[in-house]
Amino acid sequence: MEKREVAQVLEWFSDMGVSDVLNTDSVKPSSGQITSLSKLKQAMAAVDISIKHCATNMVFGMGNEKADILLLGEAPGAEEDKQGLPFVGQSGQLLDKVLAAIGLDRTKVYITNILPWRPPGNRTPNTQEVALFRPYVLKHISLINPRVVVCLGGTSTKALLQTSDGIMRLHGRWTSAEGVSAKIMPTFHPAYLLRSPSQKREFWRDFLIVREEIQKVASYF
Ligand code: URA
Repeated sequence: MEKREVAQVLEWFSDMGVSDVLNTDSVKPSSGQITSLSKLKQAMAAVDISIKHCATNMVFGMGNEKADILLLGEAPGAEEDKQGLPFVGQSGQLLDKVLAAIGLDRTKVYITNILPWRPPGNRTPNTQEVALFRPYVLKHISLINPRVVVCLGGTSTKALLQTSDGIMRLHGRWTSAEGVSAKIMPTFHPAYLLRSPSQKREFWRDFLIVREEIQKVASYF
């Protein structure tokens, strides 16, 4: 495009009242340009990654944007891909039950995943995919600014903490991660609990610890 044409385009945007144009091709979470959830969503949608071409919908996040608790899953499954919302399948139903049991629901928490697209065949996100999206996840967490992040399962725990320790070892204890100001509680993935119901008791205990922390500040308990 010639200089004169660029000037015309900019003038056109200015006439339309647009003052803040996000060049999504090049926006990195570290650039400082992503100052809202809608800008983050736009930037993530522009990430060039193969899984996006196999997915039906991008699953960004849902819930209370001022939540004290952010729940971080792994990646959308089939139902989430269909609806474009996180945890709306069987795992989500189990998650809703645990939230209800501690006096919470989806209007009081925020839910997102490490990956915004469903990997083909529901495979586990690979190292490159996780590394590519981790900075976006950190930005997502900082924009919500929760008091607590609950990592649901080994993949989100490993991604956030950048550890190779397993979930059996890490769950149920507060931990922290560089670049995250919230306290982090690793726990099991609800899909794992559907396969191993005997661990539900531990899951519940982990959520009780979260409730204890949130009770200090929240008026809704
Ligand atoms: N499993 C996840 O980790 N996230 C979802 O959104 C659904 C299932």
